Amino acid sequence: MLAVTARSVSRQDPLGGLVVGEHPDPQPAPGWTTVTVRAASLNHHDLWTLRGVGMDPQRLPIVLGCDAAGVDSDGREVIVHSVIPSEGWSGDETLDPRRTLLSELHDGTLAQSVSVPWRNLVAKPPAMSFAEAACLPTAWLTAYRMLFTNSGARPGDTVLVQGAGGGVATALVMLGSTTGYRVWVTSRSAEKRRRSLELGADQAFEPGARLPDRVDAVFETVGGDTWSHSLRALRPGGTVVVSGATSGFDPPAELNRVFFLQLRIVGSTMGTIQELARLARLCEIHGLRPLVDRVLPLGEARQGFEALERGEVFGKVVFEP
Ligand SMILES: NC(=O)c1ccc[n+]([C@@H]2O[C@H](COP(=O)([O-])OP(=O)(O)OC[C@H]3O[C@@H](n4cnc5c(N)ncnc54)[C@H](OP(=O)(O)O)[C@@H]3O)[C@@H](O)[C@H]2O)c1
Repeated sequence: MLAVTARSVSRQDPLGGLVVGEHPDPQPAPGWTTVTVRAASLNHHDLWTLRGVGMDPQRLPIVLGCDAAGVDSDGREVIVHSVIPSEGWSGDETLDPRRTLLSELHDGTLAQSVSVPWRNLVAKPPAMSFAEAACLPTAWLTAYRMLFTNSGARPGDTVLVQGAGGGVATALVMLGSTTGYRVWVTSRSAEKRRRSLELGADQAFEPGARLPDRVDAVFETVGGDTWSHSLRALRPGGTVVVSGATSGFDPPAELNRVFFLQLRIVGSTMGTIQELARLARLCEIHGLRPLVDRVLPLGEARQGFEALERGEVFGKVVFEP
């Protein structure tokens, strides 16, 4: 089958290890099934893998991709949940210390077909295209859990989203503004700030800008470049929810600010299959559609990786096999 694989990893030249070509068809294990992929979306996770972050080179080559929507072996239209718990785990799979995401231990979704446990399938909302549905399992699910499960913020609160152009960030803007939050954003790009307002953000600022007021919660995926601003933006007792650190993992902790203002720092990763099902229903109820920046044939996947690496993407890049 046609697949996008990581053949080698390199911090300096991540795309040097990217290969678009033939790969063996998946062989489902007992309790697993094979989904025919109709659309798969790209995440920053795929770039981290090519940089060697969280990837043992002995597992290579491996098919990249965490997200897919497609048709299962019973002909049902499904969304694939990417979090694979370890054998015998029960409860919140994001808390399983031995969980993996597709493309970490098992082949991922950037292929004509992918093998997954039966329990990892969620019905695709009929009104949503495969391309839109393929955006839900990582970026949108992460945003859902950050906002609704982990932030403690309530409709009517003001929240700040750092790095507005990203896949997770655009999902936060759309989910938050649709469900009654006042959403402020920062972005390095004037064009992305303008587009964020069109998406539903209330106000958009340059990175580090002084805000009109303190916010109830901040959503962090940028990390080092914005961390200090995130802590300064919070009201006393406010919460910063962090799920990524694209620009650096080790910003100063600024512990004086954390304890003096009683700030809460909450980590967040992906979401459960129940949260993915609720996210799909929420999108149906509100008529929400993930923002797709571009759709490319799977064979032209390299173009999408290059755009993501250059930071030129607003929303999600989707591939169709
Ligand atoms: N924990 C989890 O479960 C989970 C799930 C999904 C994603 N993540 C992580 O969250 C991060 C965002 O993921 P994503 O898929 O949304 O990525 P993405 O689409 O590539 O978005 C990254 C955004 O970061 C912003 N940014 C600001 N300063 C930056 C800098 N110095 N260098 C690079 N980017 C900068 C950019 O926004 P502007 O151009 O608008 O400034 C860019 O759009 C990644 O690190 C990813 O690994 C974690």
